[in-house]
Amino acid sequence: MAGDPTAQAPEPGQVPEPSQAPEPAQAPEPALVEIQPDGAMRGRNGQYRKLLSDLEGVYQDAAAFKAKVAALGGDALAYSVDENRVGLGDGALVLGTSTLLPGMIGQEYALTRGHIHAKRDRAEIYHCVAGQGVMLLDTIDGESRALPMSPGSVVHVPGHWIHRSVNTGPDRLVTVFVYNTDAGQDYEIIARAGGMRQLIVTDRAGGWRAIANPNHTGYQDA
Ligand SMILES: [Fe+2]
Repeated sequence: MAGDPTAQAPEPGQVPEPSQAPEPAQAPEPALVEIQPDGAMRGRNGQYRKLLSDLEGVYQDAAAFKAKVAALGGDALAYSVDENRVGLGDGALVLGTSTLLPGMIGQEYALTRGHIHAKRDRAEIYHCVAGQGVMLLDTIDGESRALPMSPGSVVHVPGHWIHRSVNTGPDRLVTVFVYNTDAGQDYEIIARAGGMRQLIVTDRAGGWRAIANPNHTGYQDA
C-alpha cells in the first residue's frame, strides 16, 4: 500500500503484487461542446483575448496602426479564443474556436499574431465555420501559401509551417481548431523576420490579394 512504512519493496526481478502495482491513470472525461454562430464555445474550460494593443508591430503600416488605436482604443478586441482541453497526456488535444474581428489597418486585412509550434513537427486543423478569410502559411526555408477559407473549408497545417489567420470579409471569421496539447506556440519567429513572407491586402475591388512583404528579412530559427 502506498505510504505504508511497513510495506516491503519487491526484490529485483520480483513481480509486484497487484496491491503494490502503480495505480492506473484516470481516464479523462469525454467532452461535448457547442460552437455558437459568433464563435463562442459552450463547454469551454479556457479562454483568452487579444486586444488591438497586443498587436503593436504586427501590421506593416505603423502609422495606420497608431491611427486605429487612436480611433478604437488600445483595449478594443482584436480576436478571442475559446478552448476545451481534456487530459494532458502526450496524445491529448486542444479543441478551440478562434474568432477574428474584421477590419483593415492600412492596406492589410485584420490578422492573428501567427506562430510556429514550439514543437516544430506538431500539426493543426482549422475548420472555417463563419466568415471569409485566408490562412497564411510559410516554411522557414522559403515556401509560402495563402489558402482561402469560407464556411466548410478545412486547412490541414502540417508541422514546420508558420501559420496565421486573416479576415478578408466584413464579418467575424470563425474557425474551429484542433492541435496537440504539447505543441506550444513560438510567436517571436515572425517578429524577428519583420513579418511573414506575404501580406494579405485589398485588391481595391472588394477582394484580397497576396503581395510580397517588403520588410520580410527571412526566418531565423532559434
Ligand atoms: Fe498553431
